[in-house]
Amino acid sequence: MHMTSSLLFASLLLLLLPSIDMKRSGKGRGLKGARHKLTGSRVRSNGRHSRSGAHRLLSGNCSESAESGDVFVDCQERGLTSVPNAQTWSRAPKHLLLASNRIKVLREGTFFGYERLTTLDLQQNQISSIEDGAFQGLENLKTLLLQHNRLETLNEEALIPMPNLRYLRLHHNPWNCLCSMDGLIITLQVPSNRNLGNHARCAAPVRLKDRKLKQIDPELLCKASTGFPQDDTPGPLVPVPFRSKPDITTSCHTYHFPQIRIDCSKRGLTEVPTGIAEDVVRIDLSNNLIRHLKAKDFQAARSLRFLNLSHNNIEHIDTGSLSGLLHLHELDLSHNSLHFIKYGVLEDLYFLSELKLGENPWVCDYSIHYMVYWLRLHPRVRQSGLICRSPPEHTGERVEAYVKSYYIVCPKDRQSSRADREQTDPALWPSPMEAQGELEEEELEPSHLRVPQKYTIFRLS
Ligand SMILES: *[C@@H]1O[C@H](CO)[C@@H](O)[C@H](O)[C@H]1NC(C)=O
Ligand SMILES: *[C@@H]1O[C@H](CO)[C@@H](O)[C@H](O)[C@H]1NC(C)=O
Repeated sequence: MHMTSSLLFASLLLLLLPSIDMKRSGKGRGLKGARHKLTGSRVRSNGRHSRSGAHRLLSGNCSESAESGDVFVDCQERGLTSVPNAQTWSRAPKHLLLASNRIKVLREGTFFGYERLTTLDLQQNQISSIEDGAFQGLENLKTLLLQHNRLETLNEEALIPMPNLRYLRLHHNPWNCLCSMDGLIITLQVPSNRNLGNHARCAAPVRLKDRKLKQIDPELLCKASTGFPQDDTPGPLVPVPFRSKPDITTSCHTYHFPQIRIDCSKRGLTEVPTGIAEDVVRIDLSNNLIRHLKAKDFQAARSLRFLNLSHNNIEHIDTGSLSGLLHLHELDLSHNSLHFIKYGVLEDLYFLSELKLGENPWVCDYSIHYMVYWLRLHPRVRQSGLICRSPPEHTGERVEAYVKSYYIVCPKDRQSSRADREQTDPALWPSPMEAQGELEEEELEPSHLRVPQKYTIFRLS
């Protein structure tokens, strides 16, 4: 038994050897490919035929996909220690996502064959060194994300091969602001480079600690480094000092796949961060400490389709806080502290189809009616979790049922034949415009002065 199994093992090994050889030879393909590229010949068709399982393994099991003609390669969180060869992919990627891996060095020629790339996401790796020729060939690159790495220095020469670079993120790297950084810092400070290197700060030397690369006088870098020897020892990386309003680029993680998505969950945020870009499709703000949505919080987020605000402490949503979200598709407001939704808050959400409202202490009194009118006007919106928490006589009841019963229950002393017909015929319920009239009248008085009888008068008008 033992003999046969070791024989089997040996023959398996023999069978495997040629394939190992093939993998080895596969390694040379990249350079060859790059050479082909340099001489202007097409290698893509070549690459497609030579695609193999071996390459898939080398590429760390990344996924390739296309969305509106753009080819995405998603290699996020794959434990990669190097950038996969450009020939690995069946089509030339436009977006290469390598966030959250274990890449340490970017060597010269790493991106040969990636000429079509416009987005390169290398955030949250362990990059401590970038050779001057690392980005060679990335002529079309527009966005380069290098935040959350271990860079202490970077030569501006490294940026020269990327004439189209518009966004460069360098924050959360332990920049050592010495004389060797002056070229980079001067480049970042050119006025037309306004989206390059924002938020990046020096970690050392001590006298420049926490100063923004964008704002340092480059003269200072080369001046005093002789006078103060202790200046040259890099200090520990300190967190960015607290700012009154958090910024999305420093507080959250941006993914570019499959759409632009920002993960701000569990960041201890007490407010909606600023700086949400126009092209963001999805934002997760769940599990924070946000209490109040303010007007214009999502003003710039014109492409937003998914917004998750669940598990916060939201009590107030100002009118206008969701304005501008014309394409919002899904809104999760569950697990908050909402009593009602103010009149007008939902008016811009033309394309909403999913609304999660569960686990909020909805109060079933007149303030909640707007929510129900709005839902009635937007029958395609799937809603869940709209359940009365109080007052006690309605606890556990669906809010729609409460609103319906509000119109059906008719105390004997308010009877009139017309009113009876109205109350039982939903078609005769107040139109949203009438409801608006009612609510606006309501708002003229503080809530404690409102008396239930008043509603009857408006209803009959
Ligand atoms: C590779 O991807 C396949 C299919 O998506 C998956 O089943 C497998 O677990 C992945 N392997 C690794 C090592 O991630
Ligand atoms: C919003 O986030 C919570 C917490 O992470 C999650 O449970 C929920 O499913 C998310 N909502 C949607 C609509 O994806």
